[in-house]
Amino acid sequence: MRHLMTVGLCALATAFAAAAPANAADRAIRLTVDAGKPGATIDRHLFGQFAEQLGHGIYGGIWVGKDSAIPNTRGIRNDVVAALKAIKVPNVRWPGGCYADSYHWRDGIGPERTTRVNTAWGNVVDSNAFGTDEFMDFAQQVGAEAYISLNVGSGSVAEAQDWMEYMTADQPTTLAKLRAANGHPAPYRVAMMGIGNESWDCGGLMTPDEYTAELRRYARFVGSYNAKEPSLKIAVGPGTDDTAWTEAVMKTWKERHGWSFDIQGLSLHSYTIYDGWPPHMPSTNFDESAYAHVIKETLKMGPLIDKQSAVMDKYDPQKKIALVVDEWGAWLAPTPGTNPAFLMQQNSQRDAILAALNINIFARHADRVRMANIAQMINVLQAMILTDGPKMVLTPTYDVFKMYVPFQDATFIPVSYDAGSYVHGDTTLPRLDAIAARGKDGKLWLSLTNLDPNHPLDVDAAALGFKATSANGQTLSAPKVDSVNTFDHPRTVSPKPISGTLKNGAIVLTLPPASVTVVSLQP
Ligand code: AHR
Repeated sequence: MRHLMTVGLCALATAFAAAAPANAADRAIRLTVDAGKPGATIDRHLFGQFAEQLGHGIYGGIWVGKDSAIPNTRGIRNDVVAALKAIKVPNVRWPGGCYADSYHWRDGIGPERTTRVNTAWGNVVDSNAFGTDEFMDFAQQVGAEAYISLNVGSGSVAEAQDWMEYMTADQPTTLAKLRAANGHPAPYRVAMMGIGNESWDCGGLMTPDEYTAELRRYARFVGSYNAKEPSLKIAVGPGTDDTAWTEAVMKTWKERHGWSFDIQGLSLHSYTIYDGWPPHMPSTNFDESAYAHVIKETLKMGPLIDKQSAVMDKYDPQKKIALVVDEWGAWLAPTPGTNPAFLMQQNSQRDAILAALNINIFARHADRVRMANIAQMINVLQAMILTDGPKMVLTPTYDVFKMYVPFQDATFIPVSYDAGSYVHGDTTLPRLDAIAARGKDGKLWLSLTNLDPNHPLDVDAAALGFKATSANGQTLSAPKVDSVNTFDHPRTVSPKPISGTLKNGAIVLTLPPASVTVVSLQP
């Protein structure tokens, strides 16, 4: 059965249906790129990262201390910073996560730090050696904007005000002078501030009404102290497809926003967790069935965004408020032998496919989804980077983010194709997932994911309104879907050059099994 799929704003999941014919794997897919119909901007902030004070996400992953033998700049690992610069990280969310709602910023400034127990993650001692000034230094070294999560659960409006004043005040206030005394006379830029985290759960188990009362106070009284650099305010949003929370926040915004209260974003958290809690799908040594189930699960992101966006549209048809997917990614079983509270997991070719599919979903919803943060950047959950002492390895997910750099701030271009089907047991998935965009470099870029782990896929790409004669780029494939990069074999999964040539008016590309390919079409 053929599934005709016009990929513009329609949901990918609707393409799943019955089994493919026996020869489906051999059939080329014709893809049409309509270069004359530009859509929304694919905001670079869709490629944001999340770094929580959790396990080795910060300590060991970013912060090694000034006296470490690991090469560092003011205590921050040079290898990690160089790797992150290469993927042009637009923003980093910190310090949590659940940790944010028990974080007290004064513990992490100045020469004397307050040592605390990290009650959110494993009851380990947090030295607070990495605090506000270290985070800002890290963000500046990477070239990323700061996205600060405020403590609503166990903090206060006054504490949050003081923190924002310490970071952003550009006038000689007591807290600005304290920042200067700590070595930073110039104000920091806090591009975004999150008003709490998962306030319906670890952030205080609030009801929607309880949260909206807090939201109004925080959004009214807390903000940037630098008029030239305002901070976008992001409210806690839903973590499931239940819409009651979204209704409450959006209704509050609609009825009450004005000069004294406003927000610019609503958060959404959605992890790919297959087969229930606690997450138990292994991140290595899994079979095709585990591959197919996890990938099918991740495609629920599309309908979830549709459902929550529909509520936002009701209250905000002009799409003033961004949907900010500030926690997403695969949440798998902890690596055996590691502290389960540290959320360490390996990262395979399956994660690369999963990352590309989610980014494509965000891009298709770019008019509403204008920011996203994968969880988490280093050593935690679906990480870009794994470290062990002085060793560092880049994951397949890292390579996807690198290959997608041309899509940052690019203009969405609709594509249409018959996705076909890849069937494994009771699971049916599309064979192809694709997006196109006009890059800031003026080039027409295509991202093509072959979900079928058993067969290569021929794609004939024809562009309307653009004369393409060849295509060049990179493809990320692997010996197996559970192939990973390790410290001993760091480039088992790594991108290879790929090119396509003109045949009968279309560019012909052969995508390896279970691969992510990004090419630009050349005139
Ligand atoms: O990313 C791990 C945790 O997942 C975060 O701390 C929390 O916000 C979410 O539940």
